Amino acid sequence: MADLLVRNCLLSKNKDPQDILIRGGVIKDIASKITADNIPVIDADFHFVTAPFVDSHFHMDATLSYGLPRLNKSGTLLEGIKLWGELKPNLTADAVKERALKFCKWAIARGTLAIRSHVDVSGQNLVGVEALLDVRETMKGLIDIQLVAFPQDGLLRANCLDNLTAALDMGVDVVGGIPHFERTMEEGHESIRILCEIAEKRGLLTDLHCDETDDPMSRYAEKLALETIRLGLKGRVAGSHLTSMHSIDNYYFTKLISLLVEADLNIIANPLINITIQGRQDNYPKRRGLTRIPEQINAGLKVAFGHDCVMDPWYPLGSHDMLEVAHMALHCCHMTGIDDMISCFDAVTTNAASILHLDNYGINKGSNGDLVILQCKDPIEAIRLKPARLFVVRRGKVISSTSPVNYELNLGSKIEREDLLFKG
Ligand code: FE2
Repeated sequence: MADLLVRNCLLSKNKDPQDILIRGGVIKDIASKITADNIPVIDADFHFVTAPFVDSHFHMDATLSYGLPRLNKSGTLLEGIKLWGELKPNLTADAVKERALKFCKWAIARGTLAIRSHVDVSGQNLVGVEALLDVRETMKGLIDIQLVAFPQDGLLRANCLDNLTAALDMGVDVVGGIPHFERTMEEGHESIRILCEIAEKRGLLTDLHCDETDDPMSRYAEKLALETIRLGLKGRVAGSHLTSMHSIDNYYFTKLISLLVEADLNIIANPLINITIQGRQDNYPKRRGLTRIPEQINAGLKVAFGHDCVMDPWYPLGSHDMLEVAHMALHCCHMTGIDDMISCFDAVTTNAASILHLDNYGINKGSNGDLVILQCKDPIEAIRLKPARLFVVRRGKVISSTSPVNYELNLGSKIEREDLLFKG
């Protein structure tokens, strides 16, 4: 917990530059000119200052395992799950921890200070759970990690209810599931009922991988909404992926969306992964496979985006940059209107924080002294440029910094300096 004065910040809410005063790790004041003695000072130099990025959906137990034990040749979700199943028996807690810790540093350097990570609880042991609980504890001063007990092989298909409850007993935070991967529609529905009842009994949040398929008949979102309403869990349940919603009949969507609104179901899309995994078996035209994000936002649902994977059995790329995630969603969903673009930024910041129920998030008096200074002027420019994270501040302490990126153009005899910011 530290003191810090950040000068000349451009904020979303204020037109004029503001200073931000952090005392004891908490934002104490935001004003056009703040004087404070004997305190470290950094100059935002009229750049955009945002609350940190929040990744609402990730798999930290699998990250950075790309190529182990082999590559995903088809690029499909199902081969990815099979490949992960081959790797899992050979995982050690030390190896998972080492990769996850390295990944956390990548995330912090790019300004992400909170991550909800699913952790696989199916299989012969809970090595991943042990490793990520350790990582959560090790990194808690730097980054908030929320863990989801995720039965990757199916709660009922793999008979892993005992593992899931054991993981929750060990301190995993959120109840996860994968109804579309259970053996039958009936078992998919049954898994949702069981998981939501566990969440209700334990007072936990729920986040299910739900309808991550191109099959328009995959309709578990309606069951998830119904259980949410029945058990009084409104606002505490998230449906992750929901990609079949891309393919469902338009009439059914008009019926479904009102049920999702009634349940106050939170939506977590994963644009980088959805655009590469979905539509794989299509001929042309190929479906994009993202859930219906603009329609969900217009209906009043809270929508966040996750990175989902970085260099693992499902995705060979990624540096964990949440602006890359927002950029992909914006393009795939035709969200180029001003409000749409702002919504994409909110999906990797405020909306994600709200879905994770993070306390004291945001650039407000009384909030945690956490912020990121980006080498740009506003949220839209942030998505356009994916600029340098000049400073990443956690509880008043600078925990990462990057030099400003500028280009020197050698145009014949003339040297020009170009900063890529929009001057129009
Ligand atoms: Fe996932």
